[in-house]
Amino acid sequence: MSTRPGTRPPSSVAPQPSPVSAPPDETRADAMACRAVGLTRTYGTGSTAVRALDGVSVDFPRGTFTAVMGPSGSGKSTLLHCLAGLDTPDAGRVLLGDTDLTGLSDRQLTEVRRDRIGFVFQSFNLLPTLTAEQNILLPLDLAGRRRDDAEFDAIVAELGLGDRLGHRPAELSGGQQQRVAVARALIGRPALIVADEPTGALDTRTGQTLLAFLRSAVRESGRTVVMVTHDPVAASFADRVVLLTDGRVSGTLDDPTPDAVLDALQLRAPVTR
Ligand SMILES: Nc1ncnc2c1ncn2[C@@H]1O[C@H](COP(=O)(O)OP(=O)(O)OP(=O)(O)O)[C@@H](O)[C@H]1O
Ligand SMILES: [Mg+2]
Repeated sequence: MSTRPGTRPPSSVAPQPSPVSAPPDETRADAMACRAVGLTRTYGTGSTAVRALDGVSVDFPRGTFTAVMGPSGSGKSTLLHCLAGLDTPDAGRVLLGDTDLTGLSDRQLTEVRRDRIGFVFQSFNLLPTLTAEQNILLPLDLAGRRRDDAEFDAIVAELGLGDRLGHRPAELSGGQQQRVAVARALIGRPALIVADEPTGALDTRTGQTLLAFLRSAVRESGRTVVMVTHDPVAASFADRVVLLTDGRVSGTLDDPTPDAVLDALQLRAPVTR
């Protein structure tokens, strides 16, 4: 895990919420699309052990867009994988609505992931033998659901993939693969969309189109988006930034502007006098 001395958030950043240990009441669970409660995740053992998450508690209210930021190695991808049931925490719980993921069998977890969560991987994870169109439709095929042509056409048009649908991933640019991965995450209309640096391979304009699209999925369709990004401008499309440092929530920032994010991350170039 990387350590960056002097990366304490400034006082304008809200302090870490205290860990939640009691089960949520019904009203609260209903208002929350997803909750992480005291998540700990350690990789390896003994002297090589890395504590990727060290007691992370964070709520993601329904119909909100959250950006997760922090230095490389601070645990962002690990947190997203735990939220989406792709990794199992050593301790703590993940609640999706009122479903406790930690209590589910493998089969139940697979169904929850398939029906309620859309995941955009940092490395895209497209299937190389399938075309872009087949990759996008994969979640529906796996669930035995019919495609909604209007929905498919809208997503493809919005993401500018219309002329690439017959191509395999190896025949697509990095940015095109990334957009196919985003389309695949959205096609099943999941309640929770979890995206790991979805604009990392995109030029500024395409990235902003994608971010506006994610934001409209939140505003107009009531979905909940949790997105990792290193880009303060991308983070400013979110309603809130959650800052991770060394596997802990080190602060949150509501209604972030790029400037406020830069300040919170202490990335602004020092002023020379
Ligand atoms: N499968 C694994 N085995 C061992 N260590 C791991 C594994 N996955 C992650 N780690 C370690 O856990 C820590 C957190 O990793 P994670 O991928 O969550 O960081 P991140 O914040 O997403 O970083 P980046 O911004 O570079 O993507 C790192 O020190 C990483 O090396
Ligand atoms: Mg990562």
